[in-house]
Amino acid sequence: MRAMVYRGPYKIRVEEKPMPVIEHPNDAIVRVTLAAICGSDLHLYHGLMPDTRVGHTFGHEFIGVVEQVGSSVQNLQVGDRVMVPFNIFCGSCWYCARGLYSNCHNVNPNATAVGGIYGYSHTTGGYDGGQSQYVRVPFADVGPVKIPDWMHDEDAVLLTDAAATGYFGAQLGEIAEGDTVVVLGAGPVGLVAAQSAWLMGAGRVMVVDQLEERLAKARSMAHAETFNYTEYDDIVVEMKKQTDHLGADVVIEAVGAEADGSLLQHIAGTKLKLQGGSPIALNWAIDSVRKGGTIGVVGAYGPIPNAVKFGDALNKGLTLNMNQTPVKRQWPRMFEHVRNGYLTPRDMVTHRFPLEDISEAYHVFSAKLDGCIKPLILPSAA
Ligand SMILES: NC(=O)c1ccc[n+]([C@@H]2O[C@H](COP(=O)([O-])OP(=O)(O)OC[C@H]3O[C@@H](n4cnc5c(N)ncnc54)[C@H](O)[C@@H]3O)[C@@H](O)[C@H]2O)c1
Ligand SMILES: [Zn+2]
Ligand SMILES: [Zn+2]
Repeated sequence: MRAMVYRGPYKIRVEEKPMPVIEHPNDAIVRVTLAAICGSDLHLYHGLMPDTRVGHTFGHEFIGVVEQVGSSVQNLQVGDRVMVPFNIFCGSCWYCARGLYSNCHNVNPNATAVGGIYGYSHTTGGYDGGQSQYVRVPFADVGPVKIPDWMHDEDAVLLTDAAATGYFGAQLGEIAEGDTVVVLGAGPVGLVAAQSAWLMGAGRVMVVDQLEERLAKARSMAHAETFNYTEYDDIVVEMKKQTDHLGADVVIEAVGAEADGSLLQHIAGTKLKLQGGSPIALNWAIDSVRKGGTIGVVGAYGPIPNAVKFGDALNKGLTLNMNQTPVKRQWPRMFEHVRNGYLTPRDMVTHRFPLEDISEAYHVFSAKLDGCIKPLILPSAA
């Protein structure tokens, strides 16, 4: 089969790989019909996540058709069209029993902090991902869900990560009625976080980024007020001015390890790798939220410590909520919001590439060329 293969930082190829096989009775093999590249894949592409192995196939946002099932699979049949959450989880451990699917304790032999993720560095279990024609889906009775008939494929694929993560970011913000919410980052995750903030009762939603086309999307998709931080001497001061000098009630951090906005932090975090990424967006969140406010962090970071303003967070009495998204937990409510048109994930899709052109897709998305906000990948299995 054809699959995306990592050959080192900034080196993505499409190569012939052996077909995945059933390794466990509860595995399924899924023929991928649509995949996406996530902002998290860019951290891998840039060589920023530890233990990203040459030869690995990325891709944790994908949908497809069940091609084969193991002997114990009961919930899926060959031919079912399925959406697969980016988390691999067992469904029965202490964490899964509490809905903490992204922290499953049974699926990742390499680390105890995070559970399994398709197509990510080996710190998340080393499972091959879905930017390929076929993929092995472990715990096939637990993660995948049949795609509802009414759902558009492009909404379905985004619900497997980007959209679910935006919604989760807003949930982590514990938004109360009338709250002023600031979303840092207008990528796919931030855009859905801004849409979701209204659903959770926000009275005002402000989105911060540096890319005009993404800010325009935040206005059209999420009816948000937008701020290009490169136009202000200090975006934190502007956020204070906007909020009677108190600060926002809630800040959602949807940027993560590769945040721009401070040359020093950027070099220390992403070039010299002295910390697990640049925490500038996180520090802006700490500075922009009011005392006693809440920050929801979904931006991803490496495991080593960051120069985070932890003392300020403590002195302000902040609540910081964060996690990898337990995707399937968000689905029942999100499905209704997508069906009713309150969440419109596919509005963010700007590019569609055949699998054979995935190297170009990574380049365009990484360099933010051609107004790229979200690229989809179309594997053309025979
Ligand atoms: N927690 C999870 O489960 C989960 C899931 C998916 C993605 N993520 C993470 O969420 C983050 C966002 O993902 P995405 O797909 O939207 O990525 P993306 O790279 O497309 O978007 C990030 C956006 O942040 C903007 N940005 C950079 N520095 C900024 C700053 N200082 N302030 C405000 N905006 C800034 C960029 O211009 C860009 O538009 C990534 O770190 C990704 O790894 C986490
Ligand atoms: Zn992702
Ligand atoms: Zn589990």
